[in-house]
Amino acid sequence: MEANEFVNCYADQKRAEAYAKLEFAGTYYLAYRDLPAVFAEHVKGKEAIDFGCGTGRSTRFLRDHGFQVTGVDISEDMIRKARQVSPDGDYRLIEDGDFRQFQRGTYDLVLAAFTFDNIATIEKKVRLFQQLRSLLNPEGRIVIVVSSPEIYLREWASFSTKDFPQNRLAHSGDVVKIVVTDHEDRRPVEDIVWTDEAYREVFGKAGLAVVQSYKPLAKGDEPYAWVSETAIAPWVVYVLRGT
Ligand SMILES: C[S@@+](CC[C@H](N)C(=O)[O-])C[C@H]1O[C@@H](n2cnc3c(N)ncnc32)[C@H](O)[C@@H]1O
Repeated sequence: MEANEFVNCYADQKRAEAYAKLEFAGTYYLAYRDLPAVFAEHVKGKEAIDFGCGTGRSTRFLRDHGFQVTGVDISEDMIRKARQVSPDGDYRLIEDGDFRQFQRGTYDLVLAAFTFDNIATIEKKVRLFQQLRSLLNPEGRIVIVVSSPEIYLREWASFSTKDFPQNRLAHSGDVVKIVVTDHEDRRPVEDIVWTDEAYREVFGKAGLAVVQSYKPLAKGDEPYAWVSETAIAPWVVYVLRGT
């Protein structure tokens, strides 16, 4: 499948039901483990947008770490489930790329946890990053958590890719497949693989600079049956500021 025909696989009720059961265990633990320290070091203030909030895991995480947060997503199924899980949360269904309801220049933090894995093409990534940047106040930061290209090539505590040898032929920007093994929906998720070099090109085009990046590795003493996680980082975290 070509990236320009890419469909958001999270616009799906069954996927939303399954996704809502994922929390912070297994491989996902590594995506969230370091975020409190990252926020403490890089983010001043508590006004946050959770871009691509899904069923609200990342939104609740921000709220539990003291942020006043609005979760936004383009999937009605995911937003419906987020509201069901957390009726007092602030969740907004938006049209793709339409941020008019949010005041520009006011936010301390925009978090996008795994969202950019599902956004095809450099043009669309650049456009969305420009829009997210415009929401930040002058000291504001964008923090993104994305899949490293290696996640699509190996086995993990919470993911499998062994049935998708075609992932090995994928170049940055291509569609890849991965199965989440921590929930009952074993239909593959389709993502867009994107290298570090390609992300840095996007950031530059969107008027963003990398303040810091992290590749969280497991230490080995966590209560999970790690497969590749102690040697290879499944996720990359970027802290970004406007230039
Ligand atoms: C893998 S889920 C991550 C959910 C959540 N951040 C978490 O950590 O659990 C990615 C979400 O991004 C949303 N998404 C994809 N493209 C988007 C876009 N252009 N604007 C807003 N949300 C988007 C999808 O609908 C999906 O709910």
